[in-house]
Amino acid sequence: MPVDDPSRPLGPSTRSVHLTEQVDPTTRSVIPPIAANAAFAYPDVETWREVALGRATGHIYARNSNPTTDRFEAKVAALEGAAAATSFTTGMAAISTTLFALLSPGQRAVTVNDAYGGTYLLFTEHLPRFGVECEVVDTDDADALDAAIARGCDLLYLESPTNPAMKVLDLARHAERAHEVGATVVVDNTFATPINQQPLALGADLVLHSATKFLGGHGDVLGGVVAGSEELIHRVYAYREIIGTGLDAQAAAQFLRSLKTLGLRIERQNANAFAVARHLEGHPKVARVVYPGLESHPQHAVAAAQMSGFGGMLAFELVGGDPAVNQLLPRLEHAYLAANLGQVETIVGPPSTTSHVELSDDERRAAGIPDGLVRYSAGIEDAQDLIADLDRALDAVDA
Ligand SMILES: Cc1ncc(COP(=O)(O)O)c(C=O)c1O
Repeated sequence: MPVDDPSRPLGPSTRSVHLTEQVDPTTRSVIPPIAANAAFAYPDVETWREVALGRATGHIYARNSNPTTDRFEAKVAALEGAAAATSFTTGMAAISTTLFALLSPGQRAVTVNDAYGGTYLLFTEHLPRFGVECEVVDTDDADALDAAIARGCDLLYLESPTNPAMKVLDLARHAERAHEVGATVVVDNTFATPINQQPLALGADLVLHSATKFLGGHGDVLGGVVAGSEELIHRVYAYREIIGTGLDAQAAAQFLRSLKTLGLRIERQNANAFAVARHLEGHPKVARVVYPGLESHPQHAVAAAQMSGFGGMLAFELVGGDPAVNQLLPRLEHAYLAANLGQVETIVGPPSTTSHVELSDDERRAAGIPDGLVRYSAGIEDAQDLIADLDRALDAVDA
């Protein structure tokens, strides 16, 4: 099994295929069998107790741990360059369990307003109910973010690129400011994936994902995962096992299969999103395209410095605003109108029906999300077909 050896760096697809994989020692299966199992049986009480008390390795009950979820966690940890990881039923379970595990009443958390809608609501509605002071800063104002951190911060939560407006935050800069005041830095890396961006290497303490998106990549399984140091992951895990938000073995096995093609899929999705973004940028009916790889992106230099690929996601606005969007979307033949992203299929939708469906129009505007924005998640189709499809549909939109 290849290991992560910095003196002999492996390419993203080799990492995706081989890191942490081991032939199953009992069956010699290349793909170890799924441990579809609630409880683990022991020959005697003493052996059982040693495992239960953590003095011997093994599993007791699958809400706490399971060999298949262990394999998924080890793989994500390796891909993110982390010592450990723990996994969850959904991305929101990963985010909420992490935040509630690490924050206590009287503490202060800082985040940005253009984060995924569910995350935004955790900071604006739910954490404050438990006495956590939350400051939500304009994502475009890096100095305001540093100032909010300097006012006192126990936890800094960042997402980059953001969902849906594709804003990019300077992760190393803000992580450094946060560490100066003793904060723990958590980064949602869902949009970038570990192939394009490694937040831990940029200074984050924890990196998390909605695995439902690119890690799964096929839209047939939900999950979440957080990776970081043994100490922090143990704190999150200890809370996860009590509130019961852990991933199940069948889902973990689906993710393990998907991760084998992560490098391959992301390479294609990066290329497709870039080609579509460049094409739309020159289209007369398109008012604005937001893609971190374009020189026109306000944080392009930051993205180029901290990302090795610019990702499969882009956003755009049409000259004709919302009415034009409503004309365009149903005409697309190679894109689903659906509330997911990161799949092998191209998926489009406005934030009002996808990432920010729980927010009112006013809340969405307050979060800095313009009306008429379209989120485009490039699949693995052929770029020329995606572009031709967009052109055909745009032809039918009123100028
Ligand atoms: C960036 C980001 N983080 C977290 C989530 C939540 O993930 P899940 O839907 O798996 O709970 C999403 C979902 O769209 C997301 O886009």
